[in-house]
This record gives sequence, structure tokens and C-alpha cells, in this order.
Amino acid sequence: MESRFVRVAGISDIDIGKMQKVTVGDISILIANVNGNFFAVDSVCTHFGGDLSEGILEGNIVTCPVHKARFDVISGKVVSPPAEALDRPDIENLSTYLVKIENKDILIRI
Ligand code: FES
Repeated sequence: MESRFVRVAGISDIDIGKMQKVTVGDISILIANVNGNFFAVDSVCTHFGGDLSEGILEGNIVTCPVHKARFDVISGKVVSPPAEALDRPDIENLSTYLVKIENKDILIRI
């Protein structure tokens, strides 16, 4: 599939330190505002599918609301594992998406 940039929000929609879930096709993506810079990762936790947009964003680290795994929203990498691993101790990094700002709009490459 050819990649393209898609508008997902306006820059004024997401304050510094906040995040918002957007849906493009069937992909749920988390947009995070880290000190005025926007980053996009999957919003579905790779552990057991927790909704990261319901979690807590501290700096560039989002904590999953379900079992508290932590991810870096810039790199998508796992920072710390779930507090309760259950039968899935090794969780994967999140996919990241390229973000572009154009005319006060946030666009991501899909
Ligand atoms: S679902 Fe996110 S840490 Fe378990």
C-alpha cells in the first residue's frame, strides 16, 4: 500500500503533556504532545490491548492503564514491563508513525 499523510487533528486540539486517540482506517493511533512536539504511536498496548490513551503521559513516557507497562512515545520502545506479566512477559515495542505539521494541522504518515 502506498504511504500518505493524513490529517488527524489540529495542533490546538492537544495541549502540551496531553494525548489523544485518533482512528485512521482500522488503526488506532495515539498522538502525544511532548513539550510542543507531536509524536504518534499505536494506541493499543502490545501486552493485552490496553487503551494507552486512557493511561498517563509523563514527559515522553506513557503508562498503560491496565498492567502499567511503560512505553516511550518518541521511539515506541518498551521502557518497563507490565507489573503483572500474566502469560505474556515479553511485550513488543509500539509502532511509530511519522508526524508532520502543516498549517496548524497534525498529519501522520500511514
Ligand atoms: S494491557 Fe497494557 S500492560 Fe497489560
